Amino acid sequence: MTSILEIEDLVLSYGAAAAVRGLTLHIAPGEVVTLIGANGAGKSTTLKGIVGLVKPTSGGIRFEGRSIVGKRTDWLARNGLALVPEGRRVFAGLTVVENLDVASAASGLRGSDLKAAIAEVLEIFPRLGERRDSLAWTLSGGEQQMLAMGRAIISKPRLLLLDEPSLGLSPKLAIEVVHLISRYSREHGLSVLLVEQNARLALASSDRGYVLETGRIVAEGPASTLGDEPEVRKAYLGS
Ligand SMILES: Nc1ncnc2c1ncn2[C@@H]1O[C@H](COP(=O)(O)OP(=O)(O)OP(=O)(O)O)[C@@H](O)[C@H]1O
Ligand SMILES: [Mg+2]
Repeated sequence: MTSILEIEDLVLSYGAAAAVRGLTLHIAPGEVVTLIGANGAGKSTTLKGIVGLVKPTSGGIRFEGRSIVGKRTDWLARNGLALVPEGRRVFAGLTVVENLDVASAASGLRGSDLKAAIAEVLEIFPRLGERRDSLAWTLSGGEQQMLAMGRAIISKPRLLLLDEPSLGLSPKLAIEVVHLISRYSREHGLSVLLVEQNARLALASSDRGYVLETGRIVAEGPASTLGDEPEVRKAYLGS
């Protein structure tokens, strides 16, 4: 298997309006790939299409070599493909540990496996460990983002889709969150598709990147050189 994810000529529409218009991309096992694009370019729609929240009009999506078109989001989450959606979705009235408990139980973990999985997440995100018994609504934005990611990785996905994990965070916390993602990927061989407004930050922690404009890929390349292309620099890196 050369790619963990292969998307071919994907079209995603809301009613008659196509938001993604023939998108092709791939992710190799262990790769961190960034999807860059302006507001409304179709980044979130792409992630929703991959996990079955938006039904493809046409095109192919293969995960670990098998077509996943038509698979349900919860089935995909239990089978190695998880999405952390835009806006931190945590249960505000539950504690950190209870949030992780619900997520791990949903992924089928029980007993000592469940306890071990929660302990591991609290180790990866020490800030969460310190606040393990705090209600989620009392956490800072960055801590809630870490909790949302913790909930996603507790079932040990092989591909994680992240929609703007640094949104609303201070520059310092944004850097911390993105670095945690790339470090976790390196250490666990996790593949990541990352959508980020902060293109500079995202590319600095990625292997490769794609630029999406009105539903089409207009540039792609290694993260180290993608930012050198004048168009990309001007439009997304502010220089
Ligand atoms: N539920 C929906 N119904 C109708 N149109 C939608 C819906 N969600 C998104 N769109 C439209 O699809 C296009 C792509 O939206 P999408 O949310 O994928 O953009 P995005 O790249 O994630 O933008 P942002 O950076 O603002 O999050 C936009 O024109 C948007 O208005
Ligand atoms: Mg979006």
